[in-house]
Amino acid sequence: MGRTPTRVGVVGYGYWGSKHVRVLNSLPDVEVTVIDRDEQRLREAMSNFPNVRIATDIADELEALDAVVVATPPALHASVSLQAMNAGLHTLVEKPLATSVEDAEALVTAAETNNVRLMVGHTFEYNPAVWKLKEIISSGELGRILYIDAARLALGRYQYDCNVIWDLAPHDISIVSYLLDEVPHRASVWAQHNIGNVHADMAYLRLEFQNSGAPAFVQVSWLHPEKIRRVTVVGEKKMAIYNDVSDNERIRIYDVGVDPAQVDEGSSHDYPVSYRFGDIVSPYVQFREPLMLQDSHFIECVRTGKEPQTPGQRGLDIVKVLAATDVANSTGAPAETGASLVSASGAGNGRVRP
Ligand SMILES: NC(=O)c1ccc[n+]([C@@H]2O[C@H](COP(=O)([O-])OP(=O)(O)OC[C@H]3O[C@@H](n4cnc5c(N)ncnc54)[C@H](O)[C@@H]3O)[C@@H](O)[C@H]2O)c1
Repeated sequence: MGRTPTRVGVVGYGYWGSKHVRVLNSLPDVEVTVIDRDEQRLREAMSNFPNVRIATDIADELEALDAVVVATPPALHASVSLQAMNAGLHTLVEKPLATSVEDAEALVTAAETNNVRLMVGHTFEYNPAVWKLKEIISSGELGRILYIDAARLALGRYQYDCNVIWDLAPHDISIVSYLLDEVPHRASVWAQHNIGNVHADMAYLRLEFQNSGAPAFVQVSWLHPEKIRRVTVVGEKKMAIYNDVSDNERIRIYDVGVDPAQVDEGSSHDYPVSYRFGDIVSPYVQFREPLMLQDSHFIECVRTGKEPQTPGQRGLDIVKVLAATDVANSTGAPAETGASLVSASGAGNGRVRP
């Protein structure tokens, strides 16, 4: 006899919601309802996935679901998620968890009050290449980490309701927090809007971490000719690059480094440092689709009641960092994030991994 199906509504069948529908619809004993206000989007969903149910308003479906995935534009995350959790539905919310700290806090409280699981879709915390990078850092192979540099650039999808930082940087802030086991306590920003008159479309962030001491620099842009998804970790002994757009060498470890040197005052050709050069190694990382790992984990949490590895609190911490970038951007000075230093995030402990 089969298991009772888990009934999941995907709210928002846009660019990313359609990927959730593909993934969830492929899982055993999961019944998917696509909910979108736009009937054209629903016709597309039916044509791509003839077995899914469709609906235009989540309010009509609350009784018929066990859980929802909220993949609407970010400004609607809070209201849709509150509606779902107040009806007793477990809720996976796309990043960013909400568009203000107050809304994100309200979501964390609603999950507690209603005793439902709240999870945030920090997809890169379910990415085997990111797990591998963390493993390399934790093993000490790179030595003391001096800094991390992340770049997420492309001719990107301009958003109506948020700037490029709130759209793209949640990924990088979650990645660097995961790698360093710590959420940044201070943020500085240099941002600019180039097209139209609304939101910044390119930005540089400097994130400071209290315990690790190594800062992270994050560059995000919707206005860049090349698609770049790269995290560089510079250690005292070695350096590593995670290139998410590479097919078969997503991680490379460079056995290179620079040491301070004794300067011979008499020689004009000496550098104040000496260089080390060695092998470049690319460890094998088996490809497993992060969204599949993430959504399978959500379904497992719904079924077993266990706490997600990227719970609401994790989403709230990243929203606090994003909110600090707004303050830093408007004042021109570094802003404190107020995020918990060590945020709940268990994917780092490898519990999702096989
Ligand atoms: N994790 C990732 O890697 C990743 C990647 C891209 C986007 N996202 C996130 O996914 C979310 C959706 O982004 P997108 O690019 O797919 O946006 P999109 O604009 O392509 O799609 C949004 C969809 O939501 C629908 N919608 C709007 N209001 C609704 C409502 N009240 N009820 C039901 N449906 C409603 C719209 O009709 C549209 O089909 C955003 O939060 C974004 O940050 C995450």
